[in-house]
Amino acid sequence: MPFSRIVGTGSALPPRLVSNHDLAAELATRQIETSDDWIVERTGIRQRYIADRGVKTSALATDAARLALADAQVDASEVDLIIVATSTPDFVFPSTACLVQANLGNKGAAAFDVQAVCSGFVYALTTADSFIRAGRARCAVVIGAEVFSSILDWNDRGTCVLFGDGAGAVVLRASDSPGILAAQLHADGSQMNILAAAGNVAYGQVTGDPFLRMDGQAVFKQAVTVLDRSARSVTKEAGLTLADVDWLIPHQANLRILTFLARKLDVPLEKVVVTVDRHANTSAASVPLALDTARRDGRIQPGQLILMQGVGGGFTWGSVLARM
Ligand code: UT7
Repeated sequence: MPFSRIVGTGSALPPRLVSNHDLAAELATRQIETSDDWIVERTGIRQRYIADRGVKTSALATDAARLALADAQVDASEVDLIIVATSTPDFVFPSTACLVQANLGNKGAAAFDVQAVCSGFVYALTTADSFIRAGRARCAVVIGAEVFSSILDWNDRGTCVLFGDGAGAVVLRASDSPGILAAQLHADGSQMNILAAAGNVAYGQVTGDPFLRMDGQAVFKQAVTVLDRSARSVTKEAGLTLADVDWLIPHQANLRILTFLARKLDVPLEKVVVTVDRHANTSAASVPLALDTARRDGRIQPGQLILMQGVGGGFTWGSVLARM
């Protein structure tokens, strides 16, 4: 049975950088009070990138995929599987993955979206790894991409300051050596209400609530608990320990979550890739964006062991342990 290995990464951000100060000033024009101090103290976020109206998830996803393919020195025609993790698809259908496929000029690859909110990339990567290990694909592009700003209620200061837009991608190839060493996915649908965008297009209109709603404290507690459990379990499955991990790349939702997690796992914070300060929470894009950032700035080196973790709406969570 072949293994799968990450052979290239890429990422894309929309050009409009919005600092906490910019956002606070904008919200103040609508009598909504927030501040850089509050946002930094409670979340560690200092800025986010926001797509202009009309910019679609497929555009960011395509940019990230092109950079990942170039990094891997793989031609788009060689790709036989495209998976996009997103909660903000361009359309109800076709899938965003099919739109990316058309943009890349690839024909014939299997292409579909995965919906697991902020765990989406970890779900998509595990799915692609399973395809490759089963011999059903040899070269996959796996993307996490979001225009989350399009589902935010900009009158709700409890959520609108937390998120940003972006995309990250990896190229995953069949390989004789690992690669991905272990992966675990989980969900608890009974907790669907703590984080949801419970709207739907039906009968010619949007039914339900078109905006993201969150019980922040419930999500916070769940996130720390399940990320801790999942990190221990996936490293154990691979016959390794957390001390073997060179870089922990958890979903980037809140610096306090990352700090709590590192402390619980007894992993020094210097080994945790942190991009939430720059990108805010980009949902399915956050882990591949962080991975690409830390590869390109030289922190993540070939041969190192990385632990990627997702957690979010559903409620969903999961971890992928990989040798770079
Ligand atoms: O990707 C999905 C995963 N999502 C997450 O992981 C999010 C997890 N949750 C969190 O990160 C935190 O719960 C939040 C950052 C969302 C909130 O932090 P918190 O420390 O739990 O604050 P809180 O919700 O308890 O609110 C504290 C106070 C409230 O005021 P009162 O009731 O104490 O007077 C809020 O109204 O802060 C107020 N508040 C704000 N103040 C200024 C809420 N949002 C803001 C804001 N600016 N943007």
